[in-house]
Amino acid sequence: MNMKMIAIIQARMSSSRLPGKVLMPLAGKPVLEHVASRIQACKTISEVVVATSTDQTDDVIQSWCESKAVSCYRGSLKDVLDRYYQTAKYYQADAVVRITADCPVIDPTIVDDVVNGYLAGGYEFYGLAGEFPNGLDCTIFAFTALERAWREAMLPSEREHVGPYIEKHPELFKSGGLYKFAGLFHHRWTLDEPRDYEFLQAIFARLYREETPFLATEVLALLEKEPDLININSQIVRDEGFLKSLVEDIKANNSLEALKQSKGVALYQRAKSLIPGGTQLLSKRPEMFAPEVWPSYYSKAKGCRVWDLDGREFIDMSIMAVGACILGYADDEVDDAVINALRKGVNSSLNCPEEVELAEALIELHPWFGMVRYARSGGEAMGLAVRIARAHTRRDIVLFSGYHGWMDWYLAANLADSAGLDGQLMPGLEPNGVPRSLIGTAIPFDANSIDSLREKIKGKEKQIAAIVIEPARGENAPPGYLQALRELAAEIGAVLLFDEITTGFRMCAGGIHRNYGIYPDMAVFAKSMANGYAMSVVMGTEKVMQAAQTTFISSTNWTERLGPAAALATLRKYQRVGAEKHLIETGNRVKQIWQTVSEAEGLEINVTGLPTLAAFAFNNPNATALDTRYTIEMLQRGFLGFRQFKPSLAHQASDIDKYQIAVKEVFGLLAKDPTASLLDTPIHHSGFQRLTKE
Ligand SMILES: Cc1ncc(COP(=O)(O)O)c(C=O)c1O
Repeated sequence: MNMKMIAIIQARMSSSRLPGKVLMPLAGKPVLEHVASRIQACKTISEVVVATSTDQTDDVIQSWCESKAVSCYRGSLKDVLDRYYQTAKYYQADAVVRITADCPVIDPTIVDDVVNGYLAGGYEFYGLAGEFPNGLDCTIFAFTALERAWREAMLPSEREHVGPYIEKHPELFKSGGLYKFAGLFHHRWTLDEPRDYEFLQAIFARLYREETPFLATEVLALLEKEPDLININSQIVRDEGFLKSLVEDIKANNSLEALKQSKGVALYQRAKSLIPGGTQLLSKRPEMFAPEVWPSYYSKAKGCRVWDLDGREFIDMSIMAVGACILGYADDEVDDAVINALRKGVNSSLNCPEEVELAEALIELHPWFGMVRYARSGGEAMGLAVRIARAHTRRDIVLFSGYHGWMDWYLAANLADSAGLDGQLMPGLEPNGVPRSLIGTAIPFDANSIDSLREKIKGKEKQIAAIVIEPARGENAPPGYLQALRELAAEIGAVLLFDEITTGFRMCAGGIHRNYGIYPDMAVFAKSMANGYAMSVVMGTEKVMQAAQTTFISSTNWTERLGPAAALATLRKYQRVGAEKHLIETGNRVKQIWQTVSEAEGLEINVTGLPTLAAFAFNNPNATALDTRYTIEMLQRGFLGFRQFKPSLAHQASDIDKYQIAVKEVFGLLAKDPTASLLDTPIHHSGFQRLTKE
């Protein structure tokens, strides 16, 4: 029996971004005419049908079809799956090639290849796959698959688009794909926006000929010769219409009421009666994001996604485990190394060899250091480092700026003057429980101000054990500042200690100070060094670190094996793939989205921070309420959204495309009502803000 393979070109005039696009002229002919004649040039297709809607606005499409003797079928405007199914049924197709009328560069030879692949493999669903230019899209559905999808698909995105239900169920439909291209994801040869039209006009002006359709290979050759053409429209989000309907699906499941009643919100109420403060880390308290709405707990995390206790999936566009999971959640390579180590025993009476291997790898990366000591969290490693610095110098006073954890040496700054840490972290932070005898041992100075430091040092030069800073807090330090610190520390004989717990691994492997070329006497890493596993390290010059032998620093759990195994695997992967490039590009793209979308929507925000420690702030007296509403609206669209974003290697361009759509919707809502009036839950708490800038 001969298979009846028809091509259905979906076409409508009511495109929201570019109304009437399918009849816009290119080289003197309507876009639809180019598409139809290109598909008619296919050798594998028996009939070409234009499927448009019964909406009056689409009468012109029917008229055009009649004038060109092209078959036309009219069906639902919104339920495109139904329109396709009815068209296929009417024309008694065995299989349908799905083509869209906004792709005037569709290549008939590629369509033929896809059809042949479909036939050869006996598939029910087959299409062009991988990173091909947007505009060459071509998928084939068996009529039986289309019929089943038509019967079973329920979600708005599955009705508005033909493929999603079938694509999501490879267990129901024999599926496959033809991989022909790589690395061309952001090429746009389709027509969605005026910039696309500009691009296509440029292409047609150079390549169009009457006799035969120009092919994809010719377009690629042209773009190689004139690469600037790609930039005309490469910034536009791919498949925006589809991504929007995915966001709509999520909204249906994530209503504010449903979020408020989630298992996580209820569990957090229990936690607060069992655990003082509810969590172990202030920055993970739900009150910091959206009280009574934030999902609070996760059941699973993978890549850049987390699932709450009700199984709702969120893309994490917030703090990514406070920066710990730089490669993404549950990275396979790191987890495999950990599982391997775990199976060999996580602890014993002997030590694990990974400690030594890791020390060598870290020192190779930071050759100005000679020795290391390990701990398992950032704060305790800072305590350990300060102890070593004091032991080495035999002095007591630490001068610091920035945030360095919860320990006594640091909070002692608030003993003398309860506002002492105000410039550094939460105003009024209580040093209760810190011995009063530590008064005067920790003195804050203004971040990035060498003058403030000099002022505080005056008269105490010979008592200063260490100068402790974060080498970048949010932004790069001002020019000359780190060098001046280096010189001043040497001059007074104090240890210069860089706390790289937040900055480490964000802009390069190891310390950000590698990029600056300023070498401290000690540095501390935690967080991202082991991709979320408990691990921290104090590194220092041999001379300083030997002082660890003159005091007592020792802990059983610092000898476990998983932390070093995870750190080694993280470091290896980070270096092998050159993770910083992706982290920086992703962070820059998100900053650009915040900036351009807020400008387009008329919402005033300030965007700050290194690309990998990016933040925005609403420039509005109701900023805290707006933050909270932003977070709630983003949760409803399937994102953990926050005013900070820490990119990971797992964030893909398609995740950010989807995020861009949600941000556009939410900034639009906030711009329309930049007050708290739409918020019926409490606003977030603003504690623990680094007042030195985020
Ligand atoms: C710069 C800096 N120092 C110290 C710490 C404390 O580290 P941990 O939370 O692992 O104890 C942090 C945590 O945010 C930090 O950012």
